[in-house]
Amino acid sequence: MSGSNVRGLPRELEPGAHVIGVGIGGGAFAEYMVLPADAAVPVPTGWADEQALGLVVNWPTALAALKPLGGVTAGQSVLIHAAAGGTGQAAVKMAKHYGATVIAAASPGKHEVVRALGADHVIDSRGGDIAAEVLRLTGGAGADLVLESVGGATLNASLAATKRVTGRVVVYGLAGGEAAITNWDLVYKHQIHVIGLNIGLLIQAAPQIFGEVMGELFALIAAGVLGPGRPTAYELADGPKTLAELETRATIGKLALLP
Ligand SMILES: NC(=O)c1ccc[n+]([C@@H]2O[C@H](COP(=O)([O-])OP(=O)(O)OC[C@H]3O[C@@H](n4cnc5c(N)ncnc54)[C@H](OP(=O)(O)O)[C@@H]3O)[C@@H](O)[C@H]2O)c1
Repeated sequence: MSGSNVRGLPRELEPGAHVIGVGIGGGAFAEYMVLPADAAVPVPTGWADEQALGLVVNWPTALAALKPLGGVTAGQSVLIHAAAGGTGQAAVKMAKHYGATVIAAASPGKHEVVRALGADHVIDSRGGDIAAEVLRLTGGAGADLVLESVGGATLNASLAATKRVTGRVVVYGLAGGEAAITNWDLVYKHQIHVIGLNIGLLIQAAPQIFGEVMGELFALIAAGVLGPGRPTAYELADGPKTLAELETRATIGKLALLP
């Protein structure tokens, strides 16, 4: 990324500045990491390391999915999968801030967490008919926007839960596996907009959009919409165990490995 092209980011970095960055090339599960200066994002004053973790991947992804790609506006309905997760929690908060009606999908043990964030409706991500639930909650119309990070069989449910003609599905994860969409589906079954999102690619290919996303993120922080994150912290040596818990859907929110 060429940060000098990225508008919206505070760039006044002095040696010793408290910064955060993402190791796209790997090497982040360590005590020290080399980062291109342009990829270092200043940590808001007073925030501890782990409180800033969402700032460089989860929150920009949630915001990019909602705004520049998803085009959410006040009064629209948004289905957010994995709503209790690191990315999902930020998406719920931001979607509510933009005036959307939020339908949050999560495992039953996590429902109170998403309700507390302001989700209007909470549905079970483990059982039941997600598409039928969303259609019922939207008076049969379907959601204006779906934040799709699950894939597998859930992708088809997301397509079926999206409003015909104007509805958008932003696909940014496949925790539940790959799934295919055919041109036949889009012409005869799911007449909707399907949009792919990879934040690393967005940073490289559309630095202007990324700059706007980061500018908006810092504005949301200044306005108190987003505050310091509250991740669950683990010892670095427990990394494999932590990843196993993530894979089995046992975690809530962001996870931090302490060096
Ligand atoms: N494209 C990008 O640039 C980008 C950037 C950031 C994140 N992502 C993706 O966004 C997703 C969320 O990331 P995150 O870090 O915030 O994780 P997370 O949401 O904290 O954890 C994943 C959650 O996904 C849900 N899930 C549903 N089906 C699952 C399955 N078969 N296997 C595992 N999890 C399943 C689970 O929530 P419930 O049990 O409550 O359903 C689980 O807790 C991931 O797929 C990640 O790869 C993509």
